[in-house]
Amino acid sequence: MKHLVRKLKTMAVLLVVVVISAHAQKTPQDMDRFIDALMKKMTLEEKIGQLNLPVTGDITTGQAKSSDVAKRISQGEVGGLFNLKGVAKIRDVQKQAVENSRLGIPLLFGMDVIHGYETVFPIPLGLSCTWDMKAIEQSARIAAIEASADGISWTFSPMVDVSRDARWGRISEGSGEDPFLGAAIARAMVKGYQGKNMSGKDEIMACVKHFALYGAPEAGRDYNTVDMSRNRMFNEYMLPYQAAVEAGAGSAMAAFNEVDGVPATGNKWLMTDVLRTQWGFDGFVVTDYTGISEMVDHGMGDLQAVAALALNAGIDMDMVSDAFVSTLKKSVEEGKVSVASIDKACRRMLEAKYKLGLFENPYKYCDVKRPAKDIFTPEHRAIARKTASESFVLMKNDNQTLPLQKKGTIAVIGPLGNTRSNMPGTWSVAAVLDNAPSLVEGLKEVTKGKANVVYAKGSNLMSDAAYEERATMFGRSLHRDNRTDKEMLEEALRISADADVIVAALGESSEMSGESSCRTDLTMPDVQRTLLEELLKTGKPVVLVLFTGRPLVLTWEKENVPAILNVWFGGSEAALAIGDVLFGDVNPSGKLTTTFPQNVGQVPLFYAHKNTGRPLNKGWFEKFRTNYLDVSNEPLYPFGYGLSYTSFTYSDISLDRSSMAVNGELTATVTLTNTGNRDGAEVVQLYIRDLVASITRPVKELKGFEKVFLKAGESRKVSFKITPELLKFYNYDLQFVCEPGEFDLMIGGNSQEVKTTRFVLTD
Ligand code: NOJ
Repeated sequence: MKHLVRKLKTMAVLLVVVVISAHAQKTPQDMDRFIDALMKKMTLEEKIGQLNLPVTGDITTGQAKSSDVAKRISQGEVGGLFNLKGVAKIRDVQKQAVENSRLGIPLLFGMDVIHGYETVFPIPLGLSCTWDMKAIEQSARIAAIEASADGISWTFSPMVDVSRDARWGRISEGSGEDPFLGAAIARAMVKGYQGKNMSGKDEIMACVKHFALYGAPEAGRDYNTVDMSRNRMFNEYMLPYQAAVEAGAGSAMAAFNEVDGVPATGNKWLMTDVLRTQWGFDGFVVTDYTGISEMVDHGMGDLQAVAALALNAGIDMDMVSDAFVSTLKKSVEEGKVSVASIDKACRRMLEAKYKLGLFENPYKYCDVKRPAKDIFTPEHRAIARKTASESFVLMKNDNQTLPLQKKGTIAVIGPLGNTRSNMPGTWSVAAVLDNAPSLVEGLKEVTKGKANVVYAKGSNLMSDAAYEERATMFGRSLHRDNRTDKEMLEEALRISADADVIVAALGESSEMSGESSCRTDLTMPDVQRTLLEELLKTGKPVVLVLFTGRPLVLTWEKENVPAILNVWFGGSEAALAIGDVLFGDVNPSGKLTTTFPQNVGQVPLFYAHKNTGRPLNKGWFEKFRTNYLDVSNEPLYPFGYGLSYTSFTYSDISLDRSSMAVNGELTATVTLTNTGNRDGAEVVQLYIRDLVASITRPVKELKGFEKVFLKAGESRKVSFKITPELLKFYNYDLQFVCEPGEFDLMIGGNSQEVKTTRFVLTD
């Protein structure tokens, strides 16, 4: 009897699903009708349940039914789960929702697929240094193909927070300091993840984060207070979020920080007035982790109060806090939250599932045959390798130290030289850490026995063992060596003695950047610097292969090391890609998207600064000018900077006209020539300065770029169309306007070395 009842129940559920499927059409009206009908059947508790994204817990395959999460799912308390890996597990859990909850509403499965899935691409900061929008879009496309093959329907990416503070660990997760470039990357990533419209089996929903201003915490300390003028907000920080919204991002994540004194998670102006009313966002907003309950510590009230605050501000989904499920019903009863607000949020959650096609097929992403053919494939890995090689920035190359030849003995020395687990970089939760060859392994493979590649660790990551432990969490241990510093150094020097060239693999471990990984000292850690000094004393050519997730202070290295290749964290194929560049099979073309300071005291340091009323005219120090007593205002390496194995020259700029009307346009052209003897790519950068305006304007702002490949000796004309749209900014009243007057137009290979001309915008 029990059995029969159960069977009938299942059939009824299936019928609901079938009825739902029959209605699942693609027009917005059909979606509305479908959701209206579904919501009529839902209790208040079930509606609130859709707004809940609890911690998954550890569900193993076959265990889904018995887990606590399963109980909550069957009670209709769960709208989605996150960071559960494995299609079989996800299928099991989805089955719980579809077959064992009253209305059979499918779950969303989210994950931090930040820079690839098992095929890992460079960390986002590295990826941005490719300036290659096609490659960036493709990295997101491949991430979506792999994640969707493994059951994931929703990624917590792109992270588009502009950051100008090298101390902040999460600078590694974004696209650097520039809003114009950041916006282009945001668009490319959303397109890559979502494909045409999220209807394909390999198209997943993007989540633009962290809205808003998360990249500007005071003192570069994660989760710290953010406070900035609206003027700066809209002119310098908001553009990438808006671009992701305009590209159709299906969801957004609230930032942990406050904005204008109100935590983003409870900030109605931000979540409703700006995001929805001003920008037309029609997806759903999820909190960042315990963003709701954290408002208690922010001093915004008790759990019930902050949950109501969040919902009323425009938050739709509560990640982890359990605040919505535990308090919203009470708040409705007490008149603190309206049913209409809950309905609105619930509708948005259901719309997301509808748009993903989950009502039509809850198992759309649960084809257990897909992982074997779609994840970590040779094709994906080859693309990741190429993309990684494009992300490396050649910072210095005296006397053509690079490229190296595939011959003789190459000594790889350093704590980052033989680690697999550190290659993928921070926030690579889906990576199989052992899959990524270490640098030594990669160089052996690339040289194919033509060179003798030897290795010594040379030093630990740093002398402080406790610091090293903090900096190598989540399975990224560098296996601290118990020998003395002296013993390790001696071994390195012994091994280097027989080498023709030394590749020093130094810098940060992958977990020295990323979430909750901020630093106040950005120099090379102590024992690594000593090691480098000793290696240089051998008199052999030394190439510094720099691993880092942020701009470091490399003042000493710039002065003393002949060649520096900044490889960030290049992903699962990084080691091979480094080999490709070191040996010249690939000519480096990466350009910095973040300024490298001379010392940490200069931070925040960025190219698009204001002139001030007392600009420093020339040189270093001038009394009563804006400068320091102890260091010049210059960066160590400017935004846009990066060398190549070839060289490029820029002609003067020619304009097709010297003035344009507010409804007109003009074209600026330069001739770029590859003057060296190797083929190579150059990122041609366009900057503009508004000379006189109703508010102060930056000394230059990126307004265009093109990555151009030229054969040795080849020349090409590169043109940029200047439209009034490019000249607009948010004025004092936050209206987006362009103002007639004079503009400097600059084109060059980095933000400091540019050709300049002038044009006029007329009424
Ligand atoms: C906290 C991080 O800030 C966010 O970026 C991430 O997506 C969530 N945790 C979920 O893991």
